[in-house]
Amino acid sequence: MQTDLARKLGIEFPIFAFTHCRDVVVAVSKAGGLGVLGAVGFTPEQLETELDWIDEHIGDRPYGVDIVIPGKYEGMGATDADKLQEDLKALIPQEHRDFVQKLLAEHGVPEIPEDEKMQELIGFGTAIAGPQADIALSHDKCVLLANALGTPPPDVIEKVHERGKVIAALCGSAAQAARHKAAGVDIIIAQGTEGGGHTGEIGSIVLWPEVLDVLGDTPMLAAGGIGSGRQMAAALAMGAQGVWTGSLWLTVDEADVPPAQMASLFEATSKDTLRSRSWTGKPCRMLRNEWTEAWDQEGNPKPLGMPMQFMVTSNAVQRGHRYPEQAKDVQFNPVGQIVGRMNKARPAKDVVFDLVEECIESTERLQTLMDVDVED
Ligand SMILES: Cc1cc2nc3c(=O)[nH]c(=O)nc-3n(C[C@H](O)[C@H](O)[C@H](O)COP(=O)(O)O)c2cc1C
Repeated sequence: MQTDLARKLGIEFPIFAFTHCRDVVVAVSKAGGLGVLGAVGFTPEQLETELDWIDEHIGDRPYGVDIVIPGKYEGMGATDADKLQEDLKALIPQEHRDFVQKLLAEHGVPEIPEDEKMQELIGFGTAIAGPQADIALSHDKCVLLANALGTPPPDVIEKVHERGKVIAALCGSAAQAARHKAAGVDIIIAQGTEGGGHTGEIGSIVLWPEVLDVLGDTPMLAAGGIGSGRQMAAALAMGAQGVWTGSLWLTVDEADVPPAQMASLFEATSKDTLRSRSWTGKPCRMLRNEWTEAWDQEGNPKPLGMPMQFMVTSNAVQRGHRYPEQAKDVQFNPVGQIVGRMNKARPAKDVVFDLVEECIESTERLQTLMDVDVED
């Protein structure tokens, strides 16, 4: 099952798996898809370490890296990450920091020792994601660089092309897709609102054909709500060159999601997510819990913009990972609506093969409808 794009990238199946976990990247690429490592939580140095590890374990398979350079954010244009962090800190009201401390204390989530705290400003924006892009491009097996939340800057697009690699960008509307294409982006990832993480307002089944219609020859990957081969077949039938998935990989055996957090995902239904600005400052689909409700409540602080809101909450993310039992109700749990069908952990390879098998069955079922003799 190969599309032109899959052939060009040297992969067996047109399945792209976004994940923050290097083990999942390796497992998916080895199974015939393309694992894509989300770089946002890593410093450039940590990213180098992760990619070296992937290079060592992935054999001769390709992979991708995803960075986050939003189209709009506080501190745009800054190149000195340390100075930017100090400048942005000054814009954060103490009230927001106190509110986070109070929420976590109420739930008995312990503190992280001072010397283990991660830095507050992580990979959003050019100051950090620019160097991340350079690192990704220096790794031969990394064939694709994707950018979230905006059109990648011209210098990034140019560098990708100079290295003979391809650049992709996510979008949530046809207008954004047109802007990416005009800037020279090679692959447009159209993510419907049902998807996990930052996401727009338009549903996948409406968005995908709208985007395809403005793209012409530029390939589109369909994202948002793909959790089965039936959904994959629908995307390919509409004209997508492949599927870009995220939520599915949170509950594979290889994922580094703590058991208590995975249990929340297993229990959740498709009704249990919402778009909330409470962690990152931009609308992001996640499980609804006491944290998201607290930020919505009248009289409580309102989320700041990106990246300040994440600077306020980054320590809470880290505490949630370290103490998942205590943080169960105030955990950062980005996931899409397909969470309702993510009910048990499986090896990533099985997920890839099930997607392919069910996609083939679906296209065969459709084919039998076409084959009916009109005289019958
Ligand atoms: C936990 C999680 C974190 C995500 N973080 C990012 C990110 O850093 N960069 C990005 O381009 N997309 C991110 N996404 C979105 C995915 O790339 C993908 O577009 C989305 O998950 C597709 O929809 P699905 O969740 O229904 O499969 C994230 C998704 C999830 C579930």
